[in-house]
Amino acid sequence: MATDGCYGVNTQLAHFGESCPADGTPVVPPIYQNSLFTFPTMEGLLENMWNNPGGPPHHYSRVSNPSLELLEKKLANLEGGDACKVFASGMTAITIAIMNQVKGGDHVIVVDGCYGPVKALLTGYLPKYGVEATFVDGRDVDAIFAAVKPNTKLIYLESPTSLTFRLQDIPEVAKRAKERGIRTMIDATYNTPLMMKPLEMGIDIVCHSCTKYFSGHSDLTAGAVIASQEIIDNLVRNEVLMMGALLGPFQAWLLTRGTRTLAVRLPQHEKTANHVAGWLEQQPEVKVVHHIGLESYAQRDVFLKTMKGATGLFSFEAKDDDRAKVMDFCNRLQLFGRGISWGGFESLVVASHVQPCDYDAPRWFIRLFCGLEDPEDLIADIANALPALR
Ligand SMILES: Cc1ncc(COP(=O)(O)O)c(C=O)c1O
Repeated sequence: MATDGCYGVNTQLAHFGESCPADGTPVVPPIYQNSLFTFPTMEGLLENMWNNPGGPPHHYSRVSNPSLELLEKKLANLEGGDACKVFASGMTAITIAIMNQVKGGDHVIVVDGCYGPVKALLTGYLPKYGVEATFVDGRDVDAIFAAVKPNTKLIYLESPTSLTFRLQDIPEVAKRAKERGIRTMIDATYNTPLMMKPLEMGIDIVCHSCTKYFSGHSDLTAGAVIASQEIIDNLVRNEVLMMGALLGPFQAWLLTRGTRTLAVRLPQHEKTANHVAGWLEQQPEVKVVHHIGLESYAQRDVFLKTMKGATGLFSFEAKDDDRAKVMDFCNRLQLFGRGISWGGFESLVVASHVQPCDYDAPRWFIRLFCGLEDPEDLIADIANALPALR
């Protein structure tokens, strides 16, 4: 079906990028489970390799493949970007996108509370190639720009941060970065393009862990980078050509399937999380609930300015910050599985001992992901475990 931006988002999720029906068109596109593709002439192959490495047509699946191309078209369209590349995981996508943007001697500004392995990449790994990073309180736009140095090449955002749930004023950061010629990149995994459109707000590069909401079924890992054609072409000719690390065709096919139902699943996660978080903040054992969907949320103005809605993930701190009690609470839960991911059908809990930049000491953040179960069952499960925190 020929679909473009004139259709609503649900129609686009169902059909965008797929071929016009001919007699006997398969309703589900086939999987191109190929490592390579042959050409009728040697000249044609060489022309494709050197002048059009990202395809179509495609010549080698380390660089591109039709099953990935369909998914990439869909994700770029949803995000409002020119082009997309899908990778074997969210971390692959983020690492490769950052490496594409910096070289030895460059400086990166990063928001405090970004996903842990991204922090590790920027503090423990890229310094060995001469790239340095400064971490800032992302809630404070002035603090972000106070950290700018003559060699600052990139500002890296994650809004909200996925453990402490702090937002950034994205249009303001993008505007000030553009004035200074600094590129901006965001991890928008929490949001998905249904809840936030970073490119429309002036961000240059959007990364996703598609392992989460896009997949929706906890059965694959995947990542995506969406940006201008120029940035994606550069990524293909460099990091993709040299490192590969793209998604496999079967995973791309599964992810295309998951993406079709994103707009049905996401409001359910949001509704449940708002309900559960609203109930939780009334409980005597709870000190504070960090959920961007709550009216009591500290950065309500930034939430309303930058997002269409919240999704299913939030954290809370107990009044009693005792480790054993936090572990006991988590262990008593029956419906929330103890696991580190989120975005699937199933509810999850994870406890992390962290020190946000404005805290005097680390505290236990208990993060809950609300899956697709009945909200009242999830509340009953938490109510049953809460006595552990007394
Ligand atoms: C906010 C965020 N970004 C990125 C990632 C990395 O994604 P992946 O696990 O697909 O590599 C995760 C994974 O949990 C995440 O929570």
